[in-house]
Amino acid sequence: MKYKLPPGTHDILPSEIPLWHHLEKTAHEVFQTYGYQEIRTPIFEYTSLFARSLGESSDIVEKEMYTFSANKSEESLTLRPELTAPVVRAYLEHHLNREKKFQKLYYIGPLFRHERPQKGRYRQFHQIGLEALGCYDYLVDIEIIDVTIRLFELLGIKQAQLVINSIGCPQCRPIYQNALKNNLSTIKTKLCSDCQRRFQTNILRILDCKNKTCYEITSQIPPIQTFLCKQCRNHFEQLISGLKEFDISYKIDSHLVRGFDYYTKTIFEIRHSALGSQNALCGGGRYDNLIEEFGGLPTGAVGCAIGMERVILALKAEIKNNSQVFACPPLKVFLALVEPELKMEGAKFLKELRRKGISADMDFETRSLKGQLRLANKLKVPYVIILGPEELAQGVVKLKDMSSGKEEVLKKEEVYEKISSG
Ligand code: HAM
Repeated sequence: MKYKLPPGTHDILPSEIPLWHHLEKTAHEVFQTYGYQEIRTPIFEYTSLFARSLGESSDIVEKEMYTFSANKSEESLTLRPELTAPVVRAYLEHHLNREKKFQKLYYIGPLFRHERPQKGRYRQFHQIGLEALGCYDYLVDIEIIDVTIRLFELLGIKQAQLVINSIGCPQCRPIYQNALKNNLSTIKTKLCSDCQRRFQTNILRILDCKNKTCYEITSQIPPIQTFLCKQCRNHFEQLISGLKEFDISYKIDSHLVRGFDYYTKTIFEIRHSALGSQNALCGGGRYDNLIEEFGGLPTGAVGCAIGMERVILALKAEIKNNSQVFACPPLKVFLALVEPELKMEGAKFLKELRRKGISADMDFETRSLKGQLRLANKLKVPYVIILGPEELAQGVVKLKDMSSGKEEVLKKEEVYEKISSG
């Protein structure tokens, strides 16, 4: 084989497509039920959009962006590594807030991050995301969580667990960051080499380090909840009591931090127990300052994004025999020709069937009648139409019902009717 997939990319083959369609269709239906409207933005944006919003010291901006420029005079461009910043850009660029201040948007599409590939982690992957722009109310945080959980429920995913935390705001977060710095300064050489670097660049990321020693060290430090300002604490407490009202089970994890700078207050992930180390099906939170940072008025916002590849992995883990449950519906009809000379007549009849909305196909490789019937069996079609010179002369065809084996000679109109109602 001369060419292979680049690392971290994957093909979605026809056998997998029904699962993807099932996920996409369910998402469109659920999101519309909750009043969200779809938005589509370009695959690439100006690099500065991501550098500014995600943070210069985030993993994505530091080392994972696919950045290029088409020519020397053009500003640097980046394949989108996430979609919150592009949606906020579109919200402001098209003045969507003038139409309706509170905009509830969703998207489905591919993203690009130059990460180390492993199970559930790709360099090109797909997200379904939701962004609710224009409201500070904690009930919108709950709505975002609830709609995601509803989607998982309808898909049949049961082993999903919500993990939640608050990351504070630009007023209280620096106080916590300072406390972390003071607590860690004398023992920082015990941290892993990545965390020693994070100590300088992004101290909060030390909290979610998977290294056992780092985890044990940070577990000794008072959690962020004890440092939240009054407003952030109220928001978090209301959110937690709201989750109880909604019967949504959750776990507070003070080690949870997210990889982007734009978050304020609520952050959360929904994890799946069968996914191994890349176990987040979804991640999100509130970002009350991003719209203002992009030049808009102060506007509350909250959202999340669901990793589609990971949802497919979860579906495969939870739903046994999913290939049968989500198989492509077979064609309705296979048209078999008694003689190869009838190919053009057959093709014209096929066209008629398809125009009537009946899915149909035939053999183009001049197989014997036996060979064609074998192919029809393989395709699991419910009906075979056999067209021979005599039938053609009389304006009829032979229709074979593949489940009963019964054959009938019918006029074309009768065939259409029979197959459509069958
Ligand atoms: P994120 O946590 O970077 O958040 O990504 C959200 C989800 O996308 C993850 O939980 C995971 O399921 C999936 N995902 C991320 N990276 C990969 C990868 N390399 N391969 C496969 N799946 C992946 C965001 O992107 C934020 N924009 C979410 C958000 C929306 N926050 C507010 N609004």
